[in-house]
Amino acid sequence: MQDRILVVEDRPGTLGLLTRLLEKEGFEVLQANNGEEALDILSDEYPDIVLIDLSLSGIDGFDICAVMKRDPLKAHIPIVMCVPEDIRSESGKEKFRPDVFVTRPFSNGDLITQIQARINIHRLEDRLMLVNRELQQLRRERRQQASGLEAAYLDTVHCLLAAAEAKDPYIKGHAHKVGAIARMIGEKMGFDSRSLDNLEYASLLHDVGKIGVPLEILSKKGRLAREEMDVIKTHPEISVEIVSPVGFLKRVVPIIRHHHENINGTGYPLGLSGEQIPMEARVLAIADAYDAMVSDRPYRKSLEHWRAIEIIGERAVSQFDAEVAGVFVQLAKDGLLAEVYPENESRTNGITDHEDIMLNDHNN
Ligand SMILES: [Fe+2]
Repeated sequence: MQDRILVVEDRPGTLGLLTRLLEKEGFEVLQANNGEEALDILSDEYPDIVLIDLSLSGIDGFDICAVMKRDPLKAHIPIVMCVPEDIRSESGKEKFRPDVFVTRPFSNGDLITQIQARINIHRLEDRLMLVNRELQQLRRERRQQASGLEAAYLDTVHCLLAAAEAKDPYIKGHAHKVGAIARMIGEKMGFDSRSLDNLEYASLLHDVGKIGVPLEILSKKGRLAREEMDVIKTHPEISVEIVSPVGFLKRVVPIIRHHHENINGTGYPLGLSGEQIPMEARVLAIADAYDAMVSDRPYRKSLEHWRAIEIIGERAVSQFDAEVAGVFVQLAKDGLLAEVYPENESRTNGITDHEDIMLNDHNN
């Protein structure tokens, strides 16, 4: 197919010479004797390239550039502008520039080379744009597929959580309460919204791994044997295995994995201590322990609200992060836990033997 070129030149002799030269090179030439004619032709036609003489009377070369570059349908058409030798110093003032200046005097060969080069570059740019669009479309489709898969997997994780709660009725509702308390603590500590969301997801899913713990251990009344405790201690890693395939849940893995670490290094699974434990995991540990203490378990009754808070405060150095414990105790003093436990004030089933609760409570 012939390339079409619009030649804008107000000197009839030069226009004729350029037309013959370009037709000889195989172009289909559209002729404009001035700027007005050029704009008239451009209102209907989409040439492959435009060759303009700068020094037109009336609407000049830069005016035509401006009109074309402002039009989204014409902005991509390459423009070659013939200019006198001294234009380069002035051209910087122009906002809308042609793609290439050809400085007079030039040979026919130079002009044809420049025009062909601009057409070839333009075709490559078009092809590149097309390939980029196709790539973007592919990426969009893959993202949709991936998010669809993740959503489906997240549904499965929630089903597993429901199954874990059904298996161990004593933890029913536990995850949601832990999430609410953990978020309160995080907000008080100035966590950003992403950290707060991470904390809530981790709280919701931290014990989903209990689906892998035998029911007879979960519901055992009385003290667990060492071997049984070892099985219980596998649940954070099982939780991690369950949530890891969900892309956006990968960031909550450290919180889930370390929610049973103690600040003094006596916890599990790794026995991390102090700042080795992610801050969100230290928050989750307190919310988790509190809800466990104020809830009935197969092997004990719930503690009174005030006593559980007291124990968190007492264990602020040995088991819990002192700063997080301080924030939690203050929240409790301010009466804010009532939002999560409106029934707390009426609780009277407390027991005092908390020594077994904090470090051996196998369901927190
Ligand atoms: Fe747990």
